[in-house]
Amino acid sequence: MWQYEKKLQYPVNIKNRNPKYAQIIISQYGGPDGELGASMRYLTQRYGQPFNEVKGILTDIGTEELAHLEMVCAMVHQLTRDLTPEEIKQSGFDKYFVDHTASVYPQAAAGLPWRAEYIQSKGDVLADLHEDLAAEQKARVTYDNLIRLIDDPDILEPLKFLRQREITHYQRFGEALRLTTDRLNQKNFYAFNPNFDKQTCR
Ligand SMILES: [Fe+2]
Repeated sequence: MWQYEKKLQYPVNIKNRNPKYAQIIISQYGGPDGELGASMRYLTQRYGQPFNEVKGILTDIGTEELAHLEMVCAMVHQLTRDLTPEEIKQSGFDKYFVDHTASVYPQAAAGLPWRAEYIQSKGDVLADLHEDLAAEQKARVTYDNLIRLIDDPDILEPLKFLRQREITHYQRFGEALRLTTDRLNQKNFYAFNPNFDKQTCR
């Protein structure tokens, strides 16, 4: 169960619209390393975990990623409000506009819609946690790249906040991995799945 708080996790108040920036920031909504994939990955993987602490970390972080998705959507929305037909044509936003007008749609910067293939839910704690650690680093690099390409402080501040949260998530998944390996046979933890049962293949 969730309780919705009607405010963003970090404020987004962009004064100057800019459809060019919107077209690259949208990747952190529906791109391969974006917040939609992050939230779906963790909130789905949680069910296959053997340890309650790992389930809890996945639920906490997956929930926070939903709040990040909301911030990214707010940025895209504010950057594309009240555009003139001339701004739409000159910025290259026309290719997006023809399909989605100025609504927010989950896609990568190059236009590919979000795909479930971006995520995995393997039902093996080591496989899933290693994917999650890599996912946080890839999301951090995407924010690094956005920060390199953008020079509006109204956009940079929320982007820096989101980048910092990816580093925190990486550290929390590191704690989850340590907790997991502590409980497994250290000599062959890479081959151990505590969920696996030869009779039922659960
Ligand atoms: Fe994250």
